[in-house]
Amino acid sequence: MSRLWPDWITDWPKDMALERFSAQNHGDYTKWQTAIEAMPQVQTDAVTLNHSAITCELSGATQTDLAQMESCLRQLHPWRKGPFQLGPLYIDTEWRSDWKWDRLAPAMGTLDGQRILDIGCGNGYFGWRMLGAGAASVVGVDPTLLFCMQHRAIQHFVQHPEHWVLPLGIEELTATHRFDWVLSMGVLYHRRDPLEHIRQLHRLTEPGGRCVMETLIVEGDQVLYPEGRYARMRNIGAIPDIGSLERWMGEAGFQNIQIVDVSTTGLDEQRSTSWMQFESLDKALDPSDLSKTVEGLPGPRRAMLIGERR
Ligand SMILES: C[S@@+](CC[C@H](N)C(=O)[O-])C[C@H]1O[C@@H](n2cnc3c(N)ncnc32)[C@H](O)[C@@H]1O
Repeated sequence: MSRLWPDWITDWPKDMALERFSAQNHGDYTKWQTAIEAMPQVQTDAVTLNHSAITCELSGATQTDLAQMESCLRQLHPWRKGPFQLGPLYIDTEWRSDWKWDRLAPAMGTLDGQRILDIGCGNGYFGWRMLGAGAASVVGVDPTLLFCMQHRAIQHFVQHPEHWVLPLGIEELTATHRFDWVLSMGVLYHRRDPLEHIRQLHRLTEPGGRCVMETLIVEGDQVLYPEGRYARMRNIGAIPDIGSLERWMGEAGFQNIQIVDVSTTGLDEQRSTSWMQFESLDKALDPSDLSKTVEGLPGPRRAMLIGERR
């Protein structure tokens, strides 16, 4: 099995995806690739994928190795999803993604033998956790090249043969290949046509398989289409109420739709750290009323739903 591409996927645009790992595609590619290649060749003694931090034990790493590792990994700033623990080095990412996983994992249950597709997977943090819960393989897709490079950096230590993060958008995937689980977390509001996004998730899900939909929601009976920014983010499409989201999933063909969680993102879950030094959620909320964004819109609440494809 190739480290770069899951050989059993023959119907996705492989050449196009792999060509994106290039300086022509991204001006920082060479810096990132050089940093990954400069990482020390240290032996990984053990890997733990079912703790909050994806953990690699590196007992043989010297102080020089560790300093070199840290310097290389910091070239891949900003680290948004995690955390990761590589020997004594803790990558304290912007998000405590483990908290989201803790809300989701009981509803997914055991993933023994399951083939999983994670749409908009970031650097693949959740993929590691799903492999830790027994998944047979995880394919993540994310058009942001830096996150694919971060995945490569973590793979340098973990060396798992069944986890890929490919630089593709959901709209580029053909649905002739289907998965037991398809996840879309934090992606819906980036898409121009939310119902078409959910229909594509449905097409990518194996009959009998399930889909995790996690997205921003608003309260009441409305779909918010922010005209300018939302919580300082550009290109935000639809933020539905939970009823509309359930309806869209039903219209796309999902059944037995279950609301797994609704929660408000707190300043301790998403924040700036030394590994993500840009501004974070605290600068996106109204300082005099943390329930509102700086634009005066309802503050970020997130819902997580699971639907089944019959
Ligand atoms: C808010 S992050 C969510 C990351 C992760 N799924 C999570 O829940 O923490 C949204 C991700 O979606 C990715 N994304 C944006 N447009 C996409 C598209 N068309 N197809 C797949 N992923 C996309 C972004 O690059 C980004 O990494």
